[in-house]
Amino acid sequence: MRMVDLIQKKRDGQSLSEAEIQFMIKGYTADEIPDYQMSAFAMAVYFQGMSEEETAQLTMAMADSGDTVDLSPIEGVIVDKHSTGGVGDKTSLIIAPLVASVGVPVAKMSGRGLGHTGGTVDKLEGIPGFQIEMTREQFIDNVNTLKLALVGQSGNLTPADKKLYALRDVTATVNSIPLIASSIMSKKIASGADAIVLDVKVGSGAFMKSLEDARKLATTMVQIGKHLGRRTVAVLSDMNQPLGHEIGNANEVVEAMQVLTGMGEARLTEISLTLASHMAVLGGAFDDLEQARQELTAKLKNGQALATFRTFIEAQGGNPDIVDRHELLPQAKHHLEVRSEKEGYVSAMDAESIGIAAMLLGAGRETKEDRIDYAAGISIHKKVGDFVKAGDLLVELHTNREQAARAEEMARSAYEFVDSPVEVKPMIYEIIE
Ligand code: URA
Repeated sequence: MRMVDLIQKKRDGQSLSEAEIQFMIKGYTADEIPDYQMSAFAMAVYFQGMSEEETAQLTMAMADSGDTVDLSPIEGVIVDKHSTGGVGDKTSLIIAPLVASVGVPVAKMSGRGLGHTGGTVDKLEGIPGFQIEMTREQFIDNVNTLKLALVGQSGNLTPADKKLYALRDVTATVNSIPLIASSIMSKKIASGADAIVLDVKVGSGAFMKSLEDARKLATTMVQIGKHLGRRTVAVLSDMNQPLGHEIGNANEVVEAMQVLTGMGEARLTEISLTLASHMAVLGGAFDDLEQARQELTAKLKNGQALATFRTFIEAQGGNPDIVDRHELLPQAKHHLEVRSEKEGYVSAMDAESIGIAAMLLGAGRETKEDRIDYAAGISIHKKVGDFVKAGDLLVELHTNREQAARAEEMARSAYEFVDSPVEVKPMIYEIIE
């Protein structure tokens, strides 16, 4: 078999066989197929697309390209959740203890953030003492006893995807639905998920800017799940403004705990309950979504979801007292108010600009080597639909840096105003299963 023939086949709009896809991914992982040929193939896929079968086979070939996690010693159905990434997205911190509180095992591997979106691992590492690394035995034991453990990504998971993603980044081939879908799903399958709930973000702050594109991506991932025997549900949710009121690390932990007490922001609570309900049904705890939502809501109100969060923090070495005393989390030295210069209804709030502003304050990494300041972040006081008078507080910036002028400017310019009331987009657009 020759790679040049496979590139030509795809260039001419034909489908590759399973053996051809495996040949290509094995060869690329082993450095036997060079980057220039893989780039040409990615560009051919960008223009010609891939069939459902090809996309599923590419996913499986990438999932098998390195280590795979065997979670079979864990009792029950392992349901994983993946978000395509957004600003202020702390739903994993909420959903993990919430779903565990109804007895569904949560064995989660999470990543760090880069650029304007934060990672779950970074948020948890802001908790004094919290350990993200543990042995496989400890991980399995914690999930079997507490129903919940969360570790950072380690080992050599999906090396083919790592290489291909980096290549796509510099060859203008990131934005191809079969390549994105297989990249995301290969990681979930390699990390041992039996069933998967996907949170596909739509809007200005998301990877997918239009509902139509998000729907295509979600449908492709759900189809991959079907082909590979993993029940998969995709929730299309709004990312035309940041999620919740807090952006950063320590402050997002605080906001997650507020939702876990049943007193969190309505939209953040809504997306958390929607995702958690699907996970709980896929995990076999309930027969239908309505019953799942009712029971999960009860766990928020009766304190059991927060109690599970406390136990989880303590089990991974963190200080559980942060649950009652938020001041034990890292605190910034400087708090700067950004006030509105205009009057009107907030019509748009660019999530990406707010994310970049938070990064400039120290809450995120510009490069992989940057250190995070867990105390840095932004508290949002006005969101889309709110009426604002000149001089009203828009956001508060928290930082240990002496200079915050660029962040202040980015945060202010994220807002757009109009004279008449605006309709706020729904939190959930649709569910694809
Ligand atoms: N996230 C991924 O993991 N892969 C992509 O290709 C795009 C977003």
